[in-house]
Amino acid sequence: MFKRKHLLGIRELEREEIEAILESASSMKEVLTREIKKVPTLRGKTVANLFFEPSTRTRTSFEIAAKRLSADVVNFSSAGSSISKGETLKDTVLNIEAMVVDAIVVRHKSEGVPWYIATFSKASVINAGDGKNEHPTQALLDTFTILEKKGRVEGLNVAIVGDIAHSRVARSNIWALKKLGANPIVVGPPTMIPPYIDALEVEQAGSIDEVIEDANVIMMLRIQKERMKSPLFPSIREYSRLFGLNAKRLERAKPDVIVMHPGPVNWGVELSPDVMDFPNNVILNQVTNGVAVRMAVLYLLLGA
Ligand code: CP
Repeated sequence: MFKRKHLLGIRELEREEIEAILESASSMKEVLTREIKKVPTLRGKTVANLFFEPSTRTRTSFEIAAKRLSADVVNFSSAGSSISKGETLKDTVLNIEAMVVDAIVVRHKSEGVPWYIATFSKASVINAGDGKNEHPTQALLDTFTILEKKGRVEGLNVAIVGDIAHSRVARSNIWALKKLGANPIVVGPPTMIPPYIDALEVEQAGSIDEVIEDANVIMMLRIQKERMKSPLFPSIREYSRLFGLNAKRLERAKPDVIVMHPGPVNWGVELSPDVMDFPNNVILNQVTNGVAVRMAVLYLLLGA
């Protein structure tokens, strides 16, 4: 069901393709429970991680995923590279590719860069986050975690709370959740709700209190100050009062609600530190599942 050369965005995927990745991730998760967490599936293949923006979870988990499948991995970050001498993005990619790599995992601050690389790359291209546009493997690991914890995605109310306007995680999740039959509801200050939400026919709410009782899943987002040209809310205190999640608020939620966050978390802003101890906080499960999902993506693109 998944026959593509590249994984660029969720928007262009069919529901069956998303389901094929999630099913493969389930098999990969089993590999991660073995004493020897390694299979020879991608022996002889090389994965290049090209990160032009900072990352902890995505870069590390792509590296672990490739190594669990016995691929070789090379990590490139723009800091310390010949980009500082004026080398272009295209020349950088062509030179890495000339060393004969099979997959390029790319993160870049500009929207569309993975699609651009795919126009000239012989290797498979995987989008690890392009500006405010898409973060497909994050949405896949998020839906995989929902499926694992709730047994289904279809029909669930998923509140996506916070800085929607700057969030590639929100965009990819909205596509994935809608394709899988869930009901995403975006929650945030009007300054952080982008105009495209209306076109996507996604429900909106003006505070977390409006959605907390009906939500099956609460997906909190990081305030992305680095992408804001000017402040979009009066103060952190005001933001937390309307859009922050804390243990007291969670008392009003369904007993089996799960709390998610893609990371990194601004503790004390979108999440109060007392949420760390909430039993259905699945933030670290998301990180674990990131390895299984990225193994599945590498396998489907390079080895299937
Ligand atoms: N969720 C996520 O993309 O985290 P990193 O920026 O650390 O990769």
